[in-house]
Amino acid sequence: MEGRGVLTNPYGARTAPHPTWTYPARALWLVVQATLWRLAWRRIPGLRAGLLRLFGARVAWRTKLPGSLRIYFPWRVSIGPETSVGPGVTFYNLRALTAGSRGGISQNAYLCGGTHDYTRPTYPLVCKSLTIDDDVWIGAAAFLCPGVRVGQGAVVGACAVVTRDVAPWTVVAGNPARVVRERVVAGPGTP
Ligand SMILES: CC(C)(COP(=O)(O)OP(=O)(O)OC[C@H]1O[C@@H](n2cnc3c(N)ncnc32)[C@H](O)[C@@H]1OP(=O)(O)O)[C@@H](O)C(=O)NCCC(=O)NCCS
Repeated sequence: MEGRGVLTNPYGARTAPHPTWTYPARALWLVVQATLWRLAWRRIPGLRAGLLRLFGARVAWRTKLPGSLRIYFPWRVSIGPETSVGPGVTFYNLRALTAGSRGGISQNAYLCGGTHDYTRPTYPLVCKSLTIDDDVWIGAAAFLCPGVRVGQGAVVGACAVVTRDVAPWTVVAGNPARVVRERVVAGPGTP
């Protein structure tokens, strides 16, 4: 039928969109992630941050990083100070993933930096960066689509699907994520 070509499938694409050196580097990272990363004792501060830094990440030493966090390319990760990541989070960071300071990424959030160009028969991979500014809280099981930026101070509700940039100091929720309110933070001296 016109407009419908012969298709492969998205996983059949034989394109190699990343520089050659990344393939052995990622293989090594997968070994580390399955072993040292999981086993690193949480109570020794900086152990996991140190592993990430060995693989080229820019991450503060005291960043809380659970053993169940899955990272695709550690050398494309940047996390500011005092940001915590919850268990079961996935960084599918085919391009840069930048998270700012004083933030939180709750359990099972999926930060997705890749999609496929479905207008072409071979489904070439499309890689985009993800940016999370300072003071952001990403709720549990939220899904960030490729290329989005979450503005400073924003809150992303549990299970939200973020398809567009999130304005600073807003609370978004739902699928697709929409603003449900402005974020107002109490003044100093309040608990
Ligand atoms: C997004 C969130 C912060 C909003 O909290 P809130 O400011 O108290 O908002 P409300 O509960 O008053 O809800 C406001 C509106 O948004 C909707 N809403 C809130 N959270 C939602 C969510 N996750 N998905 C879809 N809609 C949501 C409410 O139904 C309500 O809609 P309505 O006005 O039509 O009734 C909160 O609901 C949430 O998702 N927190 C994350 C929880 C989490 O991830 N916990 C894990 C770490 S501890």
